[in-house]
Amino acid sequence: MYPDASSRSARLFERAQRVLPGGNTRHTVAFDPYPLYAASGAGCKVVDVDGVERTDFINNYSSMIHGHSHPKIVEAVRRQAAEMMAVGLPTESEILLAELLVERLPSVEQVRFCNSGTEAVMFAVRAARAFTGKPKLAKVEGAYHGAYDYVQASLDPTPANWGERDPVAVGHAAGTPERLLSDVVVIPFNDVEATARILDANKAELAGVLFDPIVARMGFLEATPAYLRLLREWTRANGALLLIDEVFTFRVGYDGAQGRYGIEPDLTALGKIIGGGLPIGAVGGRRDIMSVFDHRGGHPKVPHGGTYNGNPLAMVAGRVSMELLTKPEIERINRLGDRLRDGITRAIRESGLGGRANGVGSMVAMMLDDSTYTNYRGFLPAAARSIPLALQVHQKMLNRGVLFIPSGGFIVSTAMDEATIDETLAALSEVLSEVARSTGAAFAGAAQS
Ligand SMILES: Cc1ncc(COP(=O)(O)O)c(C=O)c1O
Repeated sequence: MYPDASSRSARLFERAQRVLPGGNTRHTVAFDPYPLYAASGAGCKVVDVDGVERTDFINNYSSMIHGHSHPKIVEAVRRQAAEMMAVGLPTESEILLAELLVERLPSVEQVRFCNSGTEAVMFAVRAARAFTGKPKLAKVEGAYHGAYDYVQASLDPTPANWGERDPVAVGHAAGTPERLLSDVVVIPFNDVEATARILDANKAELAGVLFDPIVARMGFLEATPAYLRLLREWTRANGALLLIDEVFTFRVGYDGAQGRYGIEPDLTALGKIIGGGLPIGAVGGRRDIMSVFDHRGGHPKVPHGGTYNGNPLAMVAGRVSMELLTKPEIERINRLGDRLRDGITRAIRESGLGGRANGVGSMVAMMLDDSTYTNYRGFLPAAARSIPLALQVHQKMLNRGVLFIPSGGFIVSTAMDEATIDETLAALSEVLSEVARSTGAAFAGAAQS
């Protein structure tokens, strides 16, 4: 049973605290009173160091789109590792993965590889600055684009510091220089009027607008068609680039969220699933823009080295993984996502708790709060009510063999089927009722119906 002070996970956490600050090296995997330490994974199951098996709906925050240790990916990595793990020369494997991405994404004519989504976004921002010759970046309030100062501006502002009317750029890490923040323009998601006004006020200096059309940090909230139209038309009309962050959203369609919503970005940042489970990032886009990375005419506008860029292990794992991710497979996991969303919403209603499941395709967010919202300022109070309940559900689900993102996220993999979803929903239904009873919500819900 979790928690258990005598478990191996609890003891490992004790040891970890001596050598890692907070006992942790990745905040997103921390939870109280101690995290579970993983030992192995196969398909949609993960086994912890105490031998307990659970269905994994975290899927390493979406990168494991085929679940754990898919035999074909393992075989490709094993073969590549035996031949060569890293080398100070290019390999054919980088051309093969680049060709696949160029084939899938009509907006992408050329690609550069790096090692994380953070780096992919960072190089997309640099490319936009180099191409336009302008210094500023616009990004959405409350949206996550990796651990990089500029794009972490206003990641989690509060009413105390987010500005009276229009958003002001707030540093995320202590010590973020104000000078740096003055080059970030923060825009409110889905607010066409305010965003147009803010962009207009900065148009002479804006190199690009960075956004993702489904914001994971806001419970997989979708951009409205009017908002997407504004960003595309405004950037085109004002000499700025449209930078789409598909690090998370690429999984929603064969040609990503840009295909699903009919967006034509200038640059695309990729990561997670394109590495087949190994560390990766990529920036891609139009040939004329990508030429900022071309060294053949002398000093490139954007120099781009990196010991692990195009690392053959990630390249081969990514290629096999993406080949396995066929159109029918994407449609199947999107349908599983729908089944999970519908089931969670039903289970929440039946429990008497308020809320619903949100999200798109294989990305599902359980919100234990009834309010509706269109951007970060609406999301924040809803999340403040939902997350404490989600944490209770999370802990109880650990004892029923299910892992999900503690704040309420569920990511579906191709290793799952309808039975996986239905078993999860059966457990979740009981747990939601238990939580409702313990908070008194079951009674309140019953009284309303
Ligand atoms: C939308 C988005 N952009 C960028 C990143 C950063 O990617 P990485 O963690 O690989 O640096 C993430 C990671 O979760 C993400 O969700």
